[in-house]
Amino acid sequence: MKILVTGGAGFIGSAFVRMVIAETDFGVVNLDKLTYAGNLENLKAVERNERYRFVHGDICDGALVDALIEAEKPEAIVHFAAESHVDRSILSPEPVIRTNLNGTFTMLEGARKHKVGRFVHVSTDEVYGSLEAPLEATEEFPLNASSPYSAAKAGSDLLVRSYFVTFKLPVVITRASNNYGPHHFPEKLIPLMITNAFDDRPLPVYGDGQQVRDWLYVDDHCRGILAVLRKGREGEIYNIGGNRSLPNLDVVRQVLALTGKPESLIQYVTDRPGHDRRYALSSEKLMRETGWAPAMDFETGLERTIAWYRANGEWVARVRSGAYREYYEKNYGGRETVG
Ligand code: NAD
Ligand code: TYD
Repeated sequence: MKILVTGGAGFIGSAFVRMVIAETDFGVVNLDKLTYAGNLENLKAVERNERYRFVHGDICDGALVDALIEAEKPEAIVHFAAESHVDRSILSPEPVIRTNLNGTFTMLEGARKHKVGRFVHVSTDEVYGSLEAPLEATEEFPLNASSPYSAAKAGSDLLVRSYFVTFKLPVVITRASNNYGPHHFPEKLIPLMITNAFDDRPLPVYGDGQQVRDWLYVDDHCRGILAVLRKGREGEIYNIGGNRSLPNLDVVRQVLALTGKPESLIQYVTDRPGHDRRYALSSEKLMRETGWAPAMDFETGLERTIAWYRANGEWVARVRSGAYREYYEKNYGGRETVG
């Protein structure tokens, strides 16, 4: 089987590409625009593999997507490409709407025209919005997005579903919880806290730090996507959760303990506007239908992630140079220290 992956140079997409090349006999074509979040260094392990090909391009470019699908004739598309960061979507929503909505539309049109046999759309638990404890979202929960990021993802989910209902395009949607692991861009909570702790820089905690996220090791997510690619039923949605809900402050404290740094590095800052208080997911459907289950416990996964960042200081230095500094100043410079 040959699959077209979009966004395969990012955090999760690159883990998926590495896993598919290492553990299956599938061919992979990776279409990626290489935005600030796309990094070909993440694909060093596969770049010379004969079953792998990289194409530099924008998923919003309809002519390119059309020609690529026509030339490569993939049996399946696994669609990761997105603007993936909530804070950036608040500072600058336009690229988020463009890539997450228009880009998904372009991919769907390409898949429809060339009758691609399977379209896996990689989405997020954030589309369900904030849930009161002890609720856990099942796939039937209403969409209740809060940020431009999650609203654009929810919109793309609806668009994908419409291509199934209207055009019979064989789609499957996955909705995963917060991922963590190696190669994660240090704008998201866990890699930001690890890299700041290494440098004895303040660890900026939004609001009271009691917001709850469910943490999923990136390889467990990728195995869930592979299970859905192989066994998911057409037109269905599958949640993929880590079954490990933690308040942000607990995560930050664990990072400090494992890096041997003091809790005095914690700095409470002004909260994120529209900040969702709690995400929680039930992955019972995926487990029941495919036998998938998350394998990595959070403590081991976090230790492994910290060890990777420790061993890959050059990767960190390169991604934190240039435009990263501008983003950091824009997102954190304006926040007041609280408490
Ligand atoms: P990421 O930001 O690390 O990577 C995104 C990739 O998409 C980058 O390689 C980037 O260059 C590429 N890209 C962006 N715009 C593009 C465009 N217009 N054309 C082509 N390529 C483009 O994101 P990630 O964390 O790996 O997330 C991947 C997918 O998984 C996203 O769809 C995201 O919504 C979803 N997801 C992420 C999480 C998470 O915790 N990170 C959880 C659930 C779902
Ligand atoms: P993030 O990694 O951006 O993922 P998401 O918002 O998509 O869940 O943030 C995870 C949680 O950590 C979220 O509640 C916001 C919080 N957070 C901070 O407290 N400080 C930070 O500097 C960042 C980036 C996030």
